[in-house]
Amino acid sequence: KQPKITVVGSINMDLMTTISRIPNQGETNFGDSFTMKPGGKGANQAIAAARLGGDVSFIAKVGADAMGEELVAHLKQQQINTDAIGFSANRSTGIANILLNEKDNRIMVVRGANEEVTVEYVQTFQERLKNSDIVLAQLEIPPETAAWCAEFCTAHGVSFILNPAPAVKLSEEVWRNCTYMTPNEEEAKLLFSKASYAEKLITTLGPEGAGYQGKVIPAISAKVADTTGAGDTFNGALAYYTGAGFSIEKAIAYANTAASFAIEKLGAQEGMPKAEEVEQRYLENI
Ligand code: RIB
Ligand code: NA
Repeated sequence: KQPKITVVGSINMDLMTTISRIPNQGETNFGDSFTMKPGGKGANQAIAAARLGGDVSFIAKVGADAMGEELVAHLKQQQINTDAIGFSANRSTGIANILLNEKDNRIMVVRGANEEVTVEYVQTFQERLKNSDIVLAQLEIPPETAAWCAEFCTAHGVSFILNPAPAVKLSEEVWRNCTYMTPNEEEAKLLFSKASYAEKLITTLGPEGAGYQGKVIPAISAKVADTTGAGDTFNGALAYYTGAGFSIEKAIAYANTAASFAIEKLGAQEGMPKAEEVEQRYLENI
């Protein structure tokens, strides 16, 4: 079935510079290229789920500026329901400064309007949250908003996935109220919890795949062009496949497969696959 997915999260314009050597302190270096591309963890995950075939609605905020207009138009084009995206009168559209070189990427985010995705704002969309099969959030919006969503979803029997990126310490309550939590290895170190919540924790391991319940569900190797957006593709796909009724292990394996497409293209959203493409690659690799 086509899952109904609501994403509560961020929208950014990604300002991407490729540079062969990242400058040291006090040093100036020439970069190789510069491009602006749509990004933001919320938007990326929403698009990943929509591209696979999910019925996706997105609760978010942009600035009342040209970038905001452009990014909302772009989301509409991807068949995402954008009527819960507000325009902030006070803050600019979120941006991410991304430095890319052969070895790694480094990202600096200015949240801007994403900071206005407050509990109060999201509370105006309660019906939509209740009518979702799955709700997906990240932490480029205020963490208390994600915590409120977790609580609200649990109270109404809606599955809730939190991708705790960038990571902050989260209370036991948030853990209890999540269906799944999907940190990467670095984020996992920061997510202190007294209990273990093994049945909720899915750790993304980059080229290795994803860890769940002491097992590693392996990634599919692909030629790396840009890993930006791989984690987001994984999360959007996890929401899609669990929402479509797949078992969690199978959903993770399919989400790994979806992520393998994302890393083959420059930019966070470019490589995101359709469900048929994921299915085919999955079958080729078992
Ligand atoms: O996860 C990748 C995203 O993180 C980028 O699109 C950038 O906007 C940052 O938020
Ligand atoms: Na990419």
